[in-house]
Amino acid sequence: MKNLLDQNFEGKKVLVRVDFNIPLDEDFNISDDSRIKAALPTLNKLIKDKARVVLMSHLGRPKGVELKYSLSHIVDYLQSLLEVNVSFSENCIGGKTINSVKNLKNGEVLLLENLRFHKEEISGDLIFSKQLANLADVYVNDAFGSSHRSHASTSIIAQFFPKEKYFGLLLKNEIDNLEKSLSNPEKPFTSIIGGAKITGKIDVITSLLDKVDNLIIGGGMAYTFAKAMGGNVGDSLVEKDKLDLAKSIIIEAKSRGVNLLLPTDSVNSSNFSNDSNVQYSEIINIPDGYMGLDIGEESICLFSEVIERSKTIIWNGPMGVFEMSNFENGTKKIGESICKATKNGAFSLIGGGDSVAAIKKFNLQNQVSYISTGGGAMLEYLEGKELPGVKAILE
Ligand code: 3PG
Ligand code: MG
Repeated sequence: MKNLLDQNFEGKKVLVRVDFNIPLDEDFNISDDSRIKAALPTLNKLIKDKARVVLMSHLGRPKGVELKYSLSHIVDYLQSLLEVNVSFSENCIGGKTINSVKNLKNGEVLLLENLRFHKEEISGDLIFSKQLANLADVYVNDAFGSSHRSHASTSIIAQFFPKEKYFGLLLKNEIDNLEKSLSNPEKPFTSIIGGAKITGKIDVITSLLDKVDNLIIGGGMAYTFAKAMGGNVGDSLVEKDKLDLAKSIIIEAKSRGVNLLLPTDSVNSSNFSNDSNVQYSEIINIPDGYMGLDIGEESICLFSEVIERSKTIIWNGPMGVFEMSNFENGTKKIGESICKATKNGAFSLIGGGDSVAAIKKFNLQNQVSYISTGGGAMLEYLEGKELPGVKAILE
């Protein structure tokens, strides 16, 4: 495996897969630039080398060509960050694109239009992959957030660069940080999993049971657990088809000696809104007509105590509906506990769009050890799955 930093790419055409799948508001302003900023080390290295840099990414999940998913919306901002000329190609393949690449001068950057405007990207079409590959001499995958996808630009393309394929600096850094928490973590090792549903998190929960000392579960999925234990959860979100699964996770945790912590109390609301009646109860005694939207003070104390004496912490998924001020407290307090533990020497890794948005909302982003740009990719890595985007570079 050749290291990007050991090479000089002067004059070479370097095709970089980045993950610029970022949120845009209705006026196409960037609402979170983390993923763009995270790609800068790789891009600056290539620009400094005087490579001819061709960037490709997807944005959203368009059905065909849709203006709101055009990467043209981010060209100016990217140019302001890179301080070099960034041009834009209205397609990612075809004659015009080939010409734009030809016209690139050393040290300049060309951003290609959204790969997903072609359905061949997601289907992993070989011809489409080859068309992309033909644009360049070197392939760099720096799109950690998309590395769990076996798409044309994230994995299929790599075979066309048998000697000239590299991990980008972000992708490498992400893997290094995940490895830091997974192989030989300093103990106690605590994982906090939240979010609305068990579906989508079940594999990561199961796989973490093998590794962690403490597993904290919060967020919407906690109500399915409370219901599974025979509680009354009122109108809270419950995945009825996951009740047995929740029970088996509780039993499994016990048999593996993992300290599984579930919320004991809940902040409830008569509606899914910030201006409804708010009420507190035990999580197993939520009155009918109310739904649980956050963990309560007792749960916060219970969780914080465990978090603050942990030495390795992984957090994915909020504790409640932190977007609404009435139900932000649990997520905020858990975030603060993670920061406290980090200050005391713990290694903390936060990932997943919602947890990262929460950490930023409460301005705690500089007080944790590492913030991942991956959501699904981070979960799959934690599940022990081989990421197609990583595998394709190693092969
Ligand atoms: C993400 O944000 O999860 C990645 O960019 C991948 O996008 P996808 O989930 O639409 O494949
Ligand atoms: Mg995703």
